Amino acid sequence: MLFDTSSPVVAIHMSFGISAFFVCLFIVILGMINAKRLGIKPNKITFKIHKYISLILIALLAASFFTEAIYFITGTGEDDFEAHGYIGLTALILSIAQVIPSLLIKARKKIKLIHSLFGYIIFLLMIIQLLTGLSEMFD
Ligand code: HEM
Ligand code: HEM
Repeated sequence: MLFDTSSPVVAIHMSFGISAFFVCLFIVILGMINAKRLGIKPNKITFKIHKYISLILIALLAASFFTEAIYFITGTGEDDFEAHGYIGLTALILSIAQVIPSLLIKARKKIKLIHSLFGYIIFLLMIIQLLTGLSEMFD
């Protein structure tokens, strides 16, 4: 059966989720530019957009998670959380853990390695999230 079309909640959830995926892709591309990996010169704008758009990612992930969680708690959505739900929650928590030190710590060298690692892990989780989310549509 195709996903539950009786509620707009699922469509809203998917819109937030898919937007979060593309925002994350954009953040990673800008991050790679900032780390001088793509042969494009970083500048103030690439740093600023990369920095502030990450707050939008957190907002979209939180919105995506809570639309489904409320739907689930009220007993109108899925019966239980599946891998998709837990991976989404992990992506949200890792993104918060990524952004807070980045905004607070000025000595970039100290967090550079962890930042790259977390950055690519979050993106990997978002790819899995998109694929598992799209496959849930046909459950
Ligand atoms: C969830 C949010 C974020 C993600 C997924 C993310 C991801 C990334 C990735 C993948 C890179 C490339 C690393 C490499 O290839 O070496 C990078 C670089 C970078 N990011 Fe982020 N980032 C996020 C938030 C932030 C924030 C809030 C700041 C604020 C200062 C920031 C500052 C930087 C800087 C300065 C670089 C250049 C390399 C370095 O000095 O670490 N990022 N980011
Ligand atoms: C990337 C695009 C995404 C798509 C296409 C998508 C799609 C879906 C679909 C179709 C469902 C089943 C809804 C139902 O019939 O009740 C679902 C459930 C769910 N989604 Fe997403 N989703 C996406 C991203 C996310 C994100 C980013 C999060 C969390 C931050 C998330 C968390 C959940 C949760 C908690 C559920 C309920 C239970 C479960 O399946 O584990 N999703 N999603």
